[in-house]
Amino acid sequence: MKAICYNCERSRSGIENICPNCGSFFTLKPDFKFRTNLKENYPYVSDFIYLGEVETPILNLDGFSLKLDYFSPTFSYKDRGSRVLVSYLKGILSERGITKINEDSSGNAGSSMAAYGRKAGFDVNIFIPGKTMQSKVNQIKSYGANIVMVNGTREDVQKTAEKANGFYASHVLNPEFRDGIRTLAYEIFMQSEHMPERIFVPVSAGTLLLGLVSGLEHLMESGEINQIPEIVAVQTELVSPLYSEVQKVPFIDRPDKASIADALVSKRPLLIKPMVEAVKKYGKCLTVSDPEIIKARNDLALSGVYAEYSSATVLAAYRNLKGNKKSLLVLTGNGLKTP
Ligand SMILES: Cc1ncc(COP(=O)(O)O)c(C=O)c1O
Ligand SMILES: [Zn+2]
Repeated sequence: MKAICYNCERSRSGIENICPNCGSFFTLKPDFKFRTNLKENYPYVSDFIYLGEVETPILNLDGFSLKLDYFSPTFSYKDRGSRVLVSYLKGILSERGITKINEDSSGNAGSSMAAYGRKAGFDVNIFIPGKTMQSKVNQIKSYGANIVMVNGTREDVQKTAEKANGFYASHVLNPEFRDGIRTLAYEIFMQSEHMPERIFVPVSAGTLLLGLVSGLEHLMESGEINQIPEIVAVQTELVSPLYSEVQKVPFIDRPDKASIADALVSKRPLLIKPMVEAVKKYGKCLTVSDPEIIKARNDLALSGVYAEYSSATVLAAYRNLKGNKKSLLVLTGNGLKTP
């Protein structure tokens, strides 16, 4: 694997998650051909934590398919990233005598990191915004993690976690989390007779988008697919920094208003540059409104699919996008997580 700084391309020397040369973040890229035994695509993980993960199902509905990526131990796609990051940290932090990990999250990544972190034997602190949904707080607690509630912006929560005693196991900064999401691309490839022409994903911090793109690029470079599907990145009208950057329109923050899509809250994503690059290279970014999201979530429920509002954004976007490309919509979180 190549581990280099996104900005200055300096090689990562250890477990630092900020480049000492320029302050940017690191990225990982496979330098070998795709392997059908998925674990072999992670040579830096020697011992995978197992919480009963399965290949998540693809459901074919009328005119489009859904990748039910919440069929996962903590009921969100985040488990792909946490599994790889925590399995890696388990080996490397124990050698250094570090037993405590800190993570900041608006809910789902917190649950996921708490579950995998605990299974790996770490003491886990999850820093959350004051307004986090009680159902998500309860889930994090159930894994025995310590919750630290921070009042202020999402960025304030991050800064507090960063400064805390222990290893900052940020799912955004540690490249192994994003890298773990490559498995989503591999599964789609292995489950599909013909690859979808369009893939819809909800976007907040950008780890899902970037991990998916990295996996698709790996398949392409390995000669397994001959085209990367068009990627449709979906944001809410209220929290649309990626959309604004791509469209070159100002993003107007409305701190007084929150979207029903409670997981899509990154207003200043650290990974914005590669996110913009990915969207410009492979697709587009769309926004959807709260009424569209609510309708999409309720319609999904009537099809037997109970997803989070944040996840149902992809159906709302699919409905707004013209054309009849073979589409796959990634449903990222189970609806029982939100009221
Ligand atoms: C259910 C759900 N969907 C989508 C996302 C967006 O993922 P990312 O932050 O990697 O862009 C999140 C992130 O919290 C999430 O919890
Ligand atoms: Zn650098």
